[in-house]
Amino acid sequence: VKNLFLLRHGETFYNLENRIGGDSKLTDRGMAQAKALARHFRTLHLPYVFTSTKRRTLETARPIANMQDRCEIITLPEFDEIDAGQCDGMRYEDIRENMPEVARARAADKYNYVYPAGEGYATLKERVDRGIKKALYLSGNSDNIIIVGHQAVNRMILSHFLYRRTEDVPYIYIPQDRYFHIISTQNKKLFELRRY
Ligand code: G3H
Repeated sequence: VKNLFLLRHGETFYNLENRIGGDSKLTDRGMAQAKALARHFRTLHLPYVFTSTKRRTLETARPIANMQDRCEIITLPEFDEIDAGQCDGMRYEDIRENMPEVARARAADKYNYVYPAGEGYATLKERVDRGIKKALYLSGNSDNIIIVGHQAVNRMILSHFLYRRTEDVPYIYIPQDRYFHIISTQNKKLFELRRY
């Protein structure tokens, strides 16, 4: 793979409410973002688009795949968003109000913090790394692949390819109106944050 395009799913109803996790659908704006991405990538040959098992990544990937000549969507559970356990589906402000110990511990060490009955960034790393290996293997010798992921997952994928201090990883900026283009050259990896 020479070009890895790392996309975040389009806007969801949960995003509008500042809720974490869940399996929300895209809003009209999210669908428009997916269509804009599809137009943006249509001149590139993309044999594979990798997604998580969540609706929001599939709904973002479908228009992209449909605009290609032949493109397979491959769903990998390894790319599912960080599991917030007992906090899944909650709003950040609800967590601060009702589970202040969670908000406090997470703020103190976001990388190592593990949600009750869920995951943390540190525990997410192993499965995301496994997903990257799978995606690279399945994409064989194709030059270009797309991964449509989630905020925490994309932070982990970026840090897999580009060095980041672990304590900075949970704060990497992952917007929904831009994507990361990770370019492999012979001996290094470069990246660009691009608008579409
Ligand atoms: O649903 C999970 C969020 O996208 C992860 O973001 O780790 O900054 O809370 P956070």
